[in-house]
Amino acid sequence: MLTQQQINYLNSNTNPEISLAENFIENAIGYYGMPLGVAAHFLIDEKYYPIPMAVEETSIIAAASKTAKWIQQHGYIETKTLSNSLIGQIQIAKVKDFSKLEKVIAKDKALLINLANEQVAQGLVNRGGGVIDLELRKLDRPDGLTMAVIHVLVDVCDAMGANIVDQICEYLKTPIEARTGETITMCILSNLSDTKLTQAKVVLENIDTELAEKIHEASIFAEIDPYRATTHNKGILNGIDPVLVATGNDWRAVEAGIHAYSARDGQYRAINTWRYDGQRLVGKLTAPICVGIVGGVTLLHPIAKISLSMLNVSSAAELARVIAAVGLVQNLGAIRALTTFKFMTGHMKLHLTNLCLSAGANKHEIPLLQKRLQEILTNEKRISLTHANRELNQIRATQTAEIVKLKG
Ligand code: MEV
Repeated sequence: MLTQQQINYLNSNTNPEISLAENFIENAIGYYGMPLGVAAHFLIDEKYYPIPMAVEETSIIAAASKTAKWIQQHGYIETKTLSNSLIGQIQIAKVKDFSKLEKVIAKDKALLINLANEQVAQGLVNRGGGVIDLELRKLDRPDGLTMAVIHVLVDVCDAMGANIVDQICEYLKTPIEARTGETITMCILSNLSDTKLTQAKVVLENIDTELAEKIHEASIFAEIDPYRATTHNKGILNGIDPVLVATGNDWRAVEAGIHAYSARDGQYRAINTWRYDGQRLVGKLTAPICVGIVGGVTLLHPIAKISLSMLNVSSAAELARVIAAVGLVQNLGAIRALTTFKFMTGHMKLHLTNLCLSAGANKHEIPLLQKRLQEILTNEKRISLTHANRELNQIRATQTAEIVKLKG
């Protein structure tokens, strides 16, 4: 629920103070305004969510809402959290004695975890999280030497977690070096959070068999062909990114994680699947979606706060589940439109207004220009800015001629 103050803020259509931007970035010179919209009809795990989406691309919000409504009529959306730890990486570039390192880490694991929890992650521990495990990995370097990497698994509760994970890893540098005699070369969070997976599932019944089969085929296409998988996943991110942006979350991190997870078996594939068994069409998306609802931008940016109030989520895990669902629904909308050949027409229809504005039409000219462009789209099945410029020139020439005629 939004407060009256938040509604007033949205209505006032103002940007936050520049001093706020200076808290986020360096050399701030202003704000880049992005349209903020709301996708409707999302019933996820039997709870209604208005979905805030900050995005510039035409038809994303319309498609999300339309598809969510279709799902409500024919099925349901359910989600779950599969795992909940972020990974921090501690690198030992050229390990001197891997087997000694292995023994020390195995022997001192509990001690190191306790130290990190007491000294750096006490706040997380108090909230039910903290450092959970240490895992050692051995990597073969191109020069024939061995690299060792220690993964620090951390439950970051409702935070995005990057800062605390980095701090934990840096804190562990000294005790690990002292115990192992190795030299740690760098410490940083990994954005491939395959230990923090969220799943969304859509189940549809009583839908057109031919359509269901086509959606199944579109899925197989994206599962086996990286060229198609990239566009398919872009369509999923059309749903995911706008919610990340609206809620002040790090969309680059989630993007990187999703792409890497999509290629986990060595080939880039769709991050989700759709299967039709003759009765039910079932879609499943499993992805690392690392988001926060406390701290940083989520807490400071007024729009991020408004978006989180609108969503009314009580945990970061709930937000991740909603985001996974939006991605899956967005994908269903895209492949439904593509397989029924409605994508271009629908997309371009909505794009007509943008073309009118790009051509420089004023508010009196837009309705007429839009009508002409619609006719061209229907007849020629394509539309561009060249059409818009040409038609606008004609409209203006006709109007000028009429005025001259009237005056004369
Ligand atoms: C366009 O922004 C997204 C799509 O290309 C996604 C897809 O092809 O599945 C329509």
